[in-house]
Amino acid sequence: MPEIIPIGADHAGFELKERLKQELAALGYEPLDLGTHSADSTDYPDYAHPVASQVEGGQVRRGVLLCGTGLGMAYAANRHPGVRAAVAWTPEVAKLARAHNDANVLVLPARFVTEQEGIEILRTWLATPFEGGRHQRRVQKIEP
Ligand code: RB5
Repeated sequence: MPEIIPIGADHAGFELKERLKQELAALGYEPLDLGTHSADSTDYPDYAHPVASQVEGGQVRRGVLLCGTGLGMAYAANRHPGVRAAVAWTPEVAKLARAHNDANVLVLPARFVTEQEGIEILRTWLATPFEGGRHQRRVQKIEP
């Protein structure tokens, strides 16, 4: 059964979300689109919370969010216990977010990456395992 990956965006991330949904499907995942469904102006927390809730509740292992800078989505998603939402603007940052920080939500700054960069960031984040070891101890110290 394909892994379900919820994905959400506001208007600033809508277009790239549509492209990343195709990419997820092409890679054998099942994207679950939690909106937004048009480029009309909307509020990023309305999409961050549903995606983060699924990760927090354990229905899914990981999720993807997009907004203009990535920051608002990360702020909202990181309010959910157990969620580690990382803004990644290069594949290298995405790789380290997985390897060192065990990021379970990828946040893309849609206004600051090209479509091709967004795809590469997504692919890298999906493919990189958590290293564990000393990073496990540090990640465990995140929850206050
Ligand atoms: C929308 O204009 C923009 O503020 C939003 O996409 C995001 O960048 C917020 O963090």
